[in-house]
Amino acid sequence: MPEAREPESGVGDLYDRVNDVLAEAMGGFLHGGYWRGPDDPSSVEEAGVRLTDFVSDRLRLAPGDRVLDVGSGNGRATAHIARRHGVSVTGITLSPYQARQAAELAEAYGLADSVDFQVHDMLDLSFPEGSFDAAYAIETVCHAQDRTDVFSGLARVLRPGGMVTVTDFLLVRPLESEDHRSLVEDAMKNYQQGPMLTRSAYEECVRAGGLEVVEFLDIGEFVRPSYRIVGGALARSEEALRDLVTEEEFRYMVNDLGRFGDITELGYAVVTARRPEAPTPKARS
Ligand SMILES: C[S@@+](CC[C@H](N)C(=O)[O-])C[C@H]1O[C@@H](n2cnc3c(N)ncnc32)[C@H](O)[C@@H]1O
Repeated sequence: MPEAREPESGVGDLYDRVNDVLAEAMGGFLHGGYWRGPDDPSSVEEAGVRLTDFVSDRLRLAPGDRVLDVGSGNGRATAHIARRHGVSVTGITLSPYQARQAAELAEAYGLADSVDFQVHDMLDLSFPEGSFDAAYAIETVCHAQDRTDVFSGLARVLRPGGMVTVTDFLLVRPLESEDHRSLVEDAMKNYQQGPMLTRSAYEECVRAGGLEVVEFLDIGEFVRPSYRIVGGALARSEEALRDLVTEEEFRYMVNDLGRFGDITELGYAVVTARRPEAPTPKARS
């Protein structure tokens, strides 16, 4: 557990502070789960694995592929995907604490040769052009004020034809009440997120970044139960959280997060895109 201290600022610092409490509430991951329906008896961990699999299954990974995990958190999903598909994964995060913890986890899983982690900004990717066969970002792109900036970096570091799958929050229709609007505004502020976008605005960001949209799914109804479950678990971790977060962050995580399940205007996008193939040279006549 990181030491209690005055919060600084920035996304990396936020995750340095809340990583462990969040992971405990989210079944070891730092993302929501995929629930088959309201009566799904799965554990939070099982639902987290199912969501991770849902993402990596879209990428048509082949053993030995080089994969970028954008916003790799504590490395739990990274290790799972590396092992399940036999691929090499580089995970990036802004949190030094997460990068260290993820490297330890990979070592414990016997994956130290195929998985590595770096403190590296998704808005300033310094990998060589075409370094990766595929990429994914689970609940990370939401932290960019302009998602186009993330997609244009990915369009450069993916090889031509390389695919990326991202999951993100989605505005399905306008927020219906003042209560919902203020919940969403608080989330954006306390989790340092950019605006929630409609499907058409989202697809526009992907295309403006230089990628082709391959598939756009909204699995909101399957992810929505996560908010109540995770919100409840965070409320039970109240004591641990108090020392790690500001008053405002505390209110959001303990009082408000669980109510997100009621905001049916919000969906959960799973977007798969591809770097266009290099144009084939014209046949000589
Ligand atoms: C909600 S967590 C998701 C972690 C992981 N993908 C998972 O599903 O378990 C968001 C992650 O995005 C990372 N992140 C946010 N902004 C970033 C940026 N600009 N560059 C790199 N990582 C970033 C955070 O450090 C954190 O690891």
